[in-house]
Amino acid sequence: MDTKIVINCAMSADGKIALPDRSQIRLSNKEDMERVNKLRKESDAILVGIGTVIEDNPRLIIKNNKNLSTNPVRVVLDTNGRTPINSNVLDDKSRTIIAVGNHFAGEIPGNSEVIKCGDEQIDIELLMEKLYERGLKNILVEGGENVLWSFLNQNLFDEINIFVASLIVGGAKTPTVAGGSGFTNKIDTLQLKLKEAEKIGNGILLKYCKK
Ligand SMILES: NC(=O)c1ccc[n+]([C@@H]2O[C@H](COP(=O)([O-])OP(=O)(O)OC[C@H]3O[C@@H](n4cnc5c(N)ncnc54)[C@H](OP(=O)(O)O)[C@@H]3O)[C@@H](O)[C@H]2O)c1
Repeated sequence: MDTKIVINCAMSADGKIALPDRSQIRLSNKEDMERVNKLRKESDAILVGIGTVIEDNPRLIIKNNKNLSTNPVRVVLDTNGRTPINSNVLDDKSRTIIAVGNHFAGEIPGNSEVIKCGDEQIDIELLMEKLYERGLKNILVEGGENVLWSFLNQNLFDEINIFVASLIVGGAKTPTVAGGSGFTNKIDTLQLKLKEAEKIGNGILLKYCKK
């Protein structure tokens, strides 16, 4: 399987990706948003977790794109089928796949495709295979903190793009780039290779790959 997985997120200079109450904060500047839009254009699918859908209600489409058929497919990790009926990811701007747990017997509103994949949580490795079978080979993972952690923890990425905004958010429980349980000893920490560091306006784009 030659799936390419790119992780993209924006953080404050102290590593936070939202406000302490988990609400969204704009961290990307105009130039960085253009970069992300380009990244979306190159992707077959944009993937987020249900936490991000509920908190940020993102649209996950290419901005100013008149040809809706070229929008990437939106993929939501949603084990228990909690995607709200009025979520922007369920609008008609693109196809949407909701990955649910094998136990899920309910219905997802709208005309989204439902893929059963995993028990306690979505089995992201298996999901990548199921997306590949549907021709979705370039996957852009956009968050939030628990989904980012899962992809990092399972070594499921080819590239990580982190835009570092020049501001501090603070807060011990504020979401960060990698939530979850974290690596509990030094040997297990995820070692990365820094490929690029580019100043973009008043921020920095860091590009990493596996070491
Ligand atoms: N700055 C940025 O770039 C950026 C981007 C996106 C989001 N955010 C921020 O991130 C925060 C949301 O993060 P979050 O952690 O609450 O939500 P999340 O990572 O978007 O979604 C997490 C949820 O996804 C479901 N899930 C299913 N399978 C999973 C798996 N294998 N691994 C991980 N999660 C899985 C779980 O819910 P179920 O058990 O119900 O399935 C889990 O609680 C918000 O504050 C948002 O503003 C920031």
